[in-house]
Amino acid sequence: MCGIVGYIGHREAYPIILKGLKRLEYRGYDSAGIALFDGKDLKLSKTKGKVADLQERLENEISTSGNLGIGHTRWATHGVPNDVNSHPHYSNSGDLVIIHNGIIENYESLKKELIKRGYTFTSDTDTEVLVNLIEDVMKSDNLKLGKAVQIALNQVVGAYAISVFDKNKPNEIVVARLGSPLAIGVGEDEFFIASDASPFIEYTNNAIYLEDEEMAIVRLGKKVKIRKIKDDSLVAPYIQELQLNLEQIEKGGYEHFMLKEIYEQPNAIKDTYRGRLLASQGIIKMSGIDDHLEKFTNADRIIVVACGTSWHAGLVSEYIFEDLARIPVEVEYASEFRYRNPIITENDVVIAISQSGETADTLAAIKLAKSKGAFVFGVCNVVGSSIARETHAGAYTHAGPEIGVASTKAFTTQITVLTLIALKLAKIKGTISNSDYHYQLQELELIPEKVVEALKADDHIKKIADTYKSVSNFLYLGRGYNFPVALEGALKLKEISYIHAEGYPAAEMKHGPIALIDENMPIVVIATKKGHYEKVVSNIQEIKSRKGKIIGIVTEGDVQVKELADHVIEIPETLESLSPLLTTIPLQLLSYYIAVLLDKNVDQPRNLAKSVTVE
Ligand code: G6P
Repeated sequence: MCGIVGYIGHREAYPIILKGLKRLEYRGYDSAGIALFDGKDLKLSKTKGKVADLQERLENEISTSGNLGIGHTRWATHGVPNDVNSHPHYSNSGDLVIIHNGIIENYESLKKELIKRGYTFTSDTDTEVLVNLIEDVMKSDNLKLGKAVQIALNQVVGAYAISVFDKNKPNEIVVARLGSPLAIGVGEDEFFIASDASPFIEYTNNAIYLEDEEMAIVRLGKKVKIRKIKDDSLVAPYIQELQLNLEQIEKGGYEHFMLKEIYEQPNAIKDTYRGRLLASQGIIKMSGIDDHLEKFTNADRIIVVACGTSWHAGLVSEYIFEDLARIPVEVEYASEFRYRNPIITENDVVIAISQSGETADTLAAIKLAKSKGAFVFGVCNVVGSSIARETHAGAYTHAGPEIGVASTKAFTTQITVLTLIALKLAKIKGTISNSDYHYQLQELELIPEKVVEALKADDHIKKIADTYKSVSNFLYLGRGYNFPVALEGALKLKEISYIHAEGYPAAEMKHGPIALIDENMPIVVIATKKGHYEKVVSNIQEIKSRKGKIIGIVTEGDVQVKELADHVIEIPETLESLSPLLTTIPLQLLSYYIAVLLDKNVDQPRNLAKSVTVE
């Protein structure tokens, strides 16, 4: 949901900001803009389109010199994506310039007031209202920028991460956050501002993450000064040393981030269980669970809240927790949960799953659950993210940065963490036999090498993708543990190829989707050996007799489905409870290759954003 970058220091700001925006393009990519100050002039260039379009335009339009600047890549909320609505926005005097990620909900009433006071607006954005509100406060009371930002933000309802500077005070940038992430990179006599650390990681490993309702004055030659926006109290800056490295956020020879991330899954899964799963000793160590064990063992139920792909991982966990640990589970869309007055008690454990750790609806669901006394546990990928900080305890997935908008390795690593938790609880509660427990642990440890095997179907899947790339609809069917995988497979295809796809529990097909089946309809059926195999084979027969095209995801050595299906993709054998970690691999590759063959923008599909920080 919009990426913001800023720089102040001794280097040329433009190349840093441009490269930073390219790295943040996963957050939004419908328009982009940069403002630069060269000690004399404040220059601004912005455009509808990608950062590459901005680069072309900007370099013809303005000089790129200057040691101070801010840049933005947008995912539109207020106002259609066009040149005028793109950020940065000037204030009426032309002195202030701002970039903003988030939504100012009361912008219309603020705008009316400002119009009465003589302000004019060129865009439809809430952001232009905010920068003029700041200017109005500054001028009315003859205040410095920092103070004016604070007073203005106290009048604002909504969410924001902002970065603003005054061309008359070119030694400082003022930043603030509520609900949208903002990091400050601290270098030698230079500072970087960004939505995440990727734009500045090659310059500094030292970062300050602003908390909600905090603002900071980033001034050259001074320490960063952080205040609470509401009560003006000073906060001591906590400078964190980042582990991230440049290699992790580059494509490393792959054509797309999505493909790289699909191929990273063996290592990502291993990194996720490393140090936690000690299979030979029969031990699962997870401090987030160990420190709060009674909360889990005494829980009446687990409520999972999440969105998108993370919700699908949550749905897989319903099967794992109920099957292995015998704890009742409810899986909720965070956006529904937060508004439907749910019954939550102190005996509930809420598990919030989020790759980014920033999804607004998931964050709001967490706050609601906490206010009702529930214990909230986070499963996040991004270290130090809002959800990681807001939850009582948690476990990171250690997947490494996921940049492709369509989530892949986040999904399998989330399932890995949730499996570890379920197995640990099952052992403690005695709901799993000793031998089964040890077997599960050993099999989990083998998953990375089985993912490597599953990835070998790559070329075969590319050919299947070529056969079906021109269809308008796809169906995905799965049962039990693999029903959520069917949903996830359909989501992947929709997201990046724009082909309509639906996931269904295989047995539900006859209650509706069967009417859609004809010779033009490809149906991906997950039909692994363990997991209602015979029932799914019957479903395949039903499809065949209606001439549907069958793509079966089967266990190595399968005979029955091979005879019925038009195509089969084999995966290694594993336990039913672990099978989603393998069955999802061919579905990711299928959607990837269809999108590539259709020449779609795989890493940045239209209208989507990686991190949805608005509700
Ligand atoms: C967006 C992304 C999805 C993601 C969902 C939840 O819609 O495009 O890939 O699954 O948000 O994100 P989270 O970061 O909370 O897992």
